[in-house]
Amino acid sequence: MDYLKTQGVDALNGTIEISGAKNASLPLIAMTILAKNRVIIKNLPHVADIKTLLKLLSNLGSECEFLEDHVTVDTSKIHETKATYDIVKTMRASILVLGPILTRFGHCEVSLPGGCAIGQRPIDLHLKALEQMGANITIEAGYVQATAPNGLKGCNIIFDKITVTGTANIVMAAALAHGTTTITNAAREPEVVQLCEVLNKSGVKIDGIGTAILTIEGTGGKLIDIDEFSIIPDRIEAGTYLCAGAITKSELTLTSVEPKHLGAVLSKLEEMGCSFTTTQDTITIHPAKEIKPVKIVTQEYPAFPTDMQAQFLALATQADGVSLIEERLFENRFMHVSELQRMGADITLNGHTATVNGKTKLSGTDVMATDLRASSALVLAALVSEGETAIHRIYHLDRGYDSLEKKLEGVGAKIERLKE
Ligand code: EPZ
Repeated sequence: MDYLKTQGVDALNGTIEISGAKNASLPLIAMTILAKNRVIIKNLPHVADIKTLLKLLSNLGSECEFLEDHVTVDTSKIHETKATYDIVKTMRASILVLGPILTRFGHCEVSLPGGCAIGQRPIDLHLKALEQMGANITIEAGYVQATAPNGLKGCNIIFDKITVTGTANIVMAAALAHGTTTITNAAREPEVVQLCEVLNKSGVKIDGIGTAILTIEGTGGKLIDIDEFSIIPDRIEAGTYLCAGAITKSELTLTSVEPKHLGAVLSKLEEMGCSFTTTQDTITIHPAKEIKPVKIVTQEYPAFPTDMQAQFLALATQADGVSLIEERLFENRFMHVSELQRMGADITLNGHTATVNGKTKLSGTDVMATDLRASSALVLAALVSEGETAIHRIYHLDRGYDSLEKKLEGVGAKIERLKE
């Protein structure tokens, strides 16, 4: 297994190019199941989760081709509709194939993803919505067995909770359904918006894109032609590198980024004393001289994203004063806290709220990654720790960050990937 060896740095300097968004790529890859043509996808990030989903599609009979600057996916020869446990267990977002396979083939078996480090991650809202659309769903031996022999039918769906992949799953199911589907309390994340925009351009009429009420007119089982598209920039990767600039008090410029997807993140960094110069596709951070403490509550987009909670918690250890960080979406998304405490951070956990007393001096040591965003929080802390830090189990990091150590090395970090 690989690990990262990192030394604390005085400052970073330079430019980091942001990759395509993992969480936009996954539903858009699943969406190719709805296509009659070979689909060209540009700007896919080179991360493990994308490889996993493409492998799953290949296992079902799709042809995936990896070329220099794009990937092609041809699902016309899919002959299997069962997503098996061995793949699904490694990536719960595999559940995104359920809606497309069911609406196209009328039957689908997907292994229950099981929980993950950050929480139980149920899929009850996905299943309840598909049942409302006419699917017959049972759970047998750890698999979701779904059938809809006459196809799915459009209906009015109201999500009890806002669910990102739940919204994506139902949008894709509705795309080939018979009739119109309305989704109320839909997720508004940019990743869901891009899925809707690509489908809309492919002849699936969708109204309300970017709002909490989506209306999708199904094609009645007819496959669609999908023109090539390019994945939007990864706002969470971008936010992570902005935190790297803030925590090391460095001026960094991000390129190929979408500033308008980072409103809540930029606003919180401004509260902490940072300022920014932005253009259409770049952001330069001007770091705070003294980092101010902050109050954060994670919520659905466009509010502050849960996927940036761990990174801001690491940053808050360097703020002068007491920060409060409340995690409202997942029940167990503070596993980075114990590792940061081992580095010297002064953090108290009380239910879903972390109280961070800064500023504390951090010392390098051996730490263990526990989940994707926790891993990046440990890297941020290591950048300002005295001495050397070894971050183990970075397969978590590789799920969602494209060449993180190379990008940081490129702006002056002392970081290298070694074998255990
Ligand atoms: C997506 O996960 C993202 N993953 C997550 O990013 C992100 O943290 C999350 O949305 C919230 O923004 C992808 O897009 C691949 P949810 P998802 O369904 O869709 C509850 C990362 O780091 N819920 O929006 O699985 C659920 O328990 C990952 O890149 C139900 O109760 O999240 C949670 O409390 C981590 N029943 C809340 O809703 C359901 O059927 C939000 O979950 C579905 C969800």
